[in-house]
Amino acid sequence: MMYQIAIDGPSGAGKSSLAKALAKRLGFIYVDTGALYRTIGYYAASHGANTQNADEVTALLGEITLSLAYEDGTQTVILNGESVGDKIRTPEASMHASNVSKIPAVRTFLLDTQRNIAEKNSVIMDGRDIGTVILPKAQVKIFLVSSFETRAMRRVKELKEKGIEASYEDVLADMIARDRQDATREIAPAVPAEDAVHLDNSLLTFDETVEAAMAIIAPRIGLV
Ligand code: DC
Repeated sequence: MMYQIAIDGPSGAGKSSLAKALAKRLGFIYVDTGALYRTIGYYAASHGANTQNADEVTALLGEITLSLAYEDGTQTVILNGESVGDKIRTPEASMHASNVSKIPAVRTFLLDTQRNIAEKNSVIMDGRDIGTVILPKAQVKIFLVSSFETRAMRRVKELKEKGIEASYEDVLADMIARDRQDATREIAPAVPAEDAVHLDNSLLTFDETVEAAMAIIAPRIGLV
């Protein structure tokens, strides 16, 4: 039996840390779908395209071959044969990712990459439209949310750990702008699926969040 678990929600809610921990616990493959949009945004920007311009970005898609690789359980995106590493994690890359994610051709381009992985493996996939568009039949759908302040503080810490200095104010402003763009776009907006379970972790520690998610998941995949 193959299982699909979708974790959607706004940026900085802690989807990736949660999904990684759950994947390890369940022995599923963790798929970070944001990394795919980040890679396209990065490629387009570094090839001189304006990432807000659908035609310019769409014209480059034919040059892009993407796949996901796993080293010691950690996902890396392979872009035209080379690992992109952390180049896709900067604040600029975040905005380019959000920009290209509004473009229908980009979403179509990434659809199969995401579905193919879920066909061959039990997955826990994090993104914005996993429960609504990519894996509408997922056995478990969690919509993870937390307050803006909590999310901005976490993101600053996360960037610092990667050696990227960013101010709380800049990160917060960037997050509010990106959230609005992601939630209000016409195509695949970042909204919860009707059958998603909401989990707010503003006041929870990481371990408590993992336990809360396990309590949602376990009965749905026959673990209890
Ligand atoms: O999860 P993230 O911050 O790495 O995602 C980067 C951007 O990609 C985010 O602003 C919205 C977009 N995205 C999306 O539209 N659909 C997904 N499934 C994942 C990410």
